[in-house]
Amino acid sequence: MSLIELHGVTKTFASGSETVTPISELDFTVEQGEFVCLMGPSGSGKTTLLHMLAGIDRPTTGRVIVAGEEVSTLSPTELARWRTRAVGYVFQQYNLIPVLTAFENVEVPLLLLKLSKAERQRRIALALAAVELTDRSHHLPRQMSGGQQQRVAIARAIATDPAVVLADEPTGNLDRETATRTMTLLRRLVDELGKTLVMVTHDPQAAKSASRLVHLDKGQIVDTNGAPAAHAAGEGTSHA
Ligand SMILES: Nc1ncnc2c1ncn2[C@@H]1O[C@H](COP(=O)(O)OP(=O)(O)O)[C@@H](O)[C@H]1O
Ligand SMILES: [Mg+2]
Repeated sequence: MSLIELHGVTKTFASGSETVTPISELDFTVEQGEFVCLMGPSGSGKTTLLHMLAGIDRPTTGRVIVAGEEVSTLSPTELARWRTRAVGYVFQQYNLIPVLTAFENVEVPLLLLKLSKAERQRRIALALAAVELTDRSHHLPRQMSGGQQQRVAIARAIATDPAVVLADEPTGNLDRETATRTMTLLRRLVDELGKTLVMVTHDPQAAKSASRLVHLDKGQIVDTNGAPAAHAAGEGTSHA
């Protein structure tokens, strides 16, 4: 079984008298250990797709299965519990809690688990060390640069050791150098911690870190890896 499976997923929003259907009859799977980069024009449903993977939003029809659970069948309590082991989410705007330190922000998802204080502290320290921010543990978000705040957000996303990390334009607010550093870090989550990563980005440079590139277009996923963009040798069989 794949770590992520979408079967016939359609998502429709009512917007005034109109309906919008960014995702339509979508079948899509991601295997354990993949680093998938999801691209597509603004409004093509990328965030909607990540939201459904995280159980933030439900499909209108179809099934979304992540880490062995059909997400839309879970009760709010089950959903919260599933999320701690299944997905961590990294937002473009970091979404840290401004009155909490880096340490306390990373602690938030861990409070949902029944851990001793010592074990919680051990996991926070591990997560902050993984993003090389041990020395900023007691800083507030406003006392950190954008890149540092995004690294705290990544530490928060991995603190509960979820199988999947979802990242929505994680380098969108960062300068080139900081973006590169962030991408190196995300790549390491896959290579060294065995995470499965689904990242939305507009940044072709960031996309280079991924092991698979997919485009969302008209509600459907188009795999672009291996596409015969420039006479790829030996790749003449598929017609995308
Ligand atoms: N909660 C919502 N209510 C109504 N329409 C929405 C909602 N969320 C997203 N949409 C619409 O769905 C489409 C896809 O949005 P989104 O997933 O945010 O696109 P992307 O992330 O690719 O830019 C857009 O037309 C957007 O306006
Ligand atoms: Mg978006």
